[in-house]
Amino acid sequence: GTESRSYTSSGSMIVVSNRLPFVLKRNDLSGKLERKASAGGLVTAVAPVVINGNGIWVGWPGMHMDNPNEQIPESDPTDRTPTAGLLSKKVVAVHVEPTVFDSYYNGCCNGTFWPLFHSMPDRATFIADHWKAYSTVNEEFAAKTVNALEMIHKEQAGQVSGTPLVWVHDYHLMLCANWIRQAADEKNLKLKLGFFLHIPFPPWDIFRLFPWADEILQGMLGCDMVGFHIQDYCLNFVDCCQRSLGCRVDRKNLLVEHGGRTVRVRPLPIGIPFDRFVSLAETAPKVMSTNLKIVLGVDRLDYTKGLVHRLKAFEMLLEKHPEHREQVTLLQIAVPSRTDVREYQDLKLEIDQLIGSINGRFTTPNWSPIRYIYGCVSQDELAAFYRDAAVALVTPLRDGMNLVAKEFVACQINTPPGVLIVSPFAGAGEMMHEALICNPYEIDDAAEVIHRALTMPEDERTLRMNHLRRRERIYDVNHWMKSFLQVMGSLEERDSVGATV
Ligand code: ADP
Ligand code: G6P
Repeated sequence: GTESRSYTSSGSMIVVSNRLPFVLKRNDLSGKLERKASAGGLVTAVAPVVINGNGIWVGWPGMHMDNPNEQIPESDPTDRTPTAGLLSKKVVAVHVEPTVFDSYYNGCCNGTFWPLFHSMPDRATFIADHWKAYSTVNEEFAAKTVNALEMIHKEQAGQVSGTPLVWVHDYHLMLCANWIRQAADEKNLKLKLGFFLHIPFPPWDIFRLFPWADEILQGMLGCDMVGFHIQDYCLNFVDCCQRSLGCRVDRKNLLVEHGGRTVRVRPLPIGIPFDRFVSLAETAPKVMSTNLKIVLGVDRLDYTKGLVHRLKAFEMLLEKHPEHREQVTLLQIAVPSRTDVREYQDLKLEIDQLIGSINGRFTTPNWSPIRYIYGCVSQDELAAFYRDAAVALVTPLRDGMNLVAKEFVACQINTPPGVLIVSPFAGAGEMMHEALICNPYEIDDAAEVIHRALTMPEDERTLRMNHLRRRERIYDVNHWMKSFLQVMGSLEERDSVGATV
């Protein structure tokens, strides 16, 4: 749309996220800083708009720097990732003292908000010091963002440009927006402020367990627009605003009134760079030399991903349907994640043990039921795994969206294709109707669903996969980006809450 063009050309976008689109590492030999690309969905989606529009990215550089003024290096000339064009002068690194960062990131973000927002309150800790650190770090992010905003206003002085757009991302930065708005108002800096949450927003009954719940909502309501993956999360948020803060709300039009302003709440389901995955799948060399059917799992090693349930379901499959023994193997790729948090350390041990016990039980001289990779794989390898798998198991207990399900269908270019199994508790499960839907908590049924996938006739597989791929191709990551910019662009038109519904 025109709005996406105007932001691209006016150069007025500031993206704020916990991680920068790259991680800094110090070269052991030269002692120099180097960039390592972090090519997640967010980066691939947002980087081109920031780069083409001469925009700014505010975030944590992934390491502690003793000298915060040390120059951030430009990207390596051989770098082909979407981040390569991001010039260092357009990067604002937020520096936080390591112990404060630990309480913020491991403590509050991943010890409190991650489990709570995934509706697993028993895993959440509520510690005042962590909350304090969260607040401190959010204030620091806000301060850096306002500096960047000032810079943009100075550069634009006298020019006819659009209002600068500030886009804050995810559960690490829920307090930021309100402070950005206050400081911008004091300094008379115009802006449009948007927020997107990449994880679920929980129902009121869960959200209210957080002792400082009101402050979170007030923080987010500092925005003009708050985006979530799906309608359910929007409704949960609107509900919490009404019940916690007593805001006037409009559930039908998803509006919340707060502090004399009206905040728009919008479902904006994220997509993937579909075409990029197709071309990766077209060119990636085969990585598995096997005649076995591959059942594939790809996840960060996280308790929300349902790995324990998944392994038990696979064990049940081998028990109930022995015809699959020596014919099928489960390839589980798990990326190490948040390894300083105890819940993640415990899970690692549990998975190691369970895989050992299942393999010990069923392995024969020529076959093991489970192959397990604990580590990162390259994009090429990943695309080859997705392409060559017979079944993908995407069975989280709770997941904001889940990009793996979408990447799998993009890479399914072989005929006949494989089968996607997806949990209804992932945002992706809401929209990918042609997948086999599987409740991961119901282990017996999950085993039957895997059996059904492995024995599904070719024409049914083709029909389902064609539908899935068609949808993901249209609703790709560019579509997501454009939808966001469109909503932000139409903010001039005044919203108002007609009645409390
Ligand atoms: P989450 O955001 O909770 O990690 P998603 O499924 O939405 O879950 O996104 C995970 C992203 O990480 C995907 O883009 C996927 O390709 C990538 N990824 C997952 N596992 C690996 C791995 N072993 N190596 C490289 N990338 C991975
Ligand atoms: C989820 C979150 C992201 C986060 C990613 C990896 O996708 O929504 O904000 O970056 O997990 O987690 P990490 O803790 O390594 O940043």
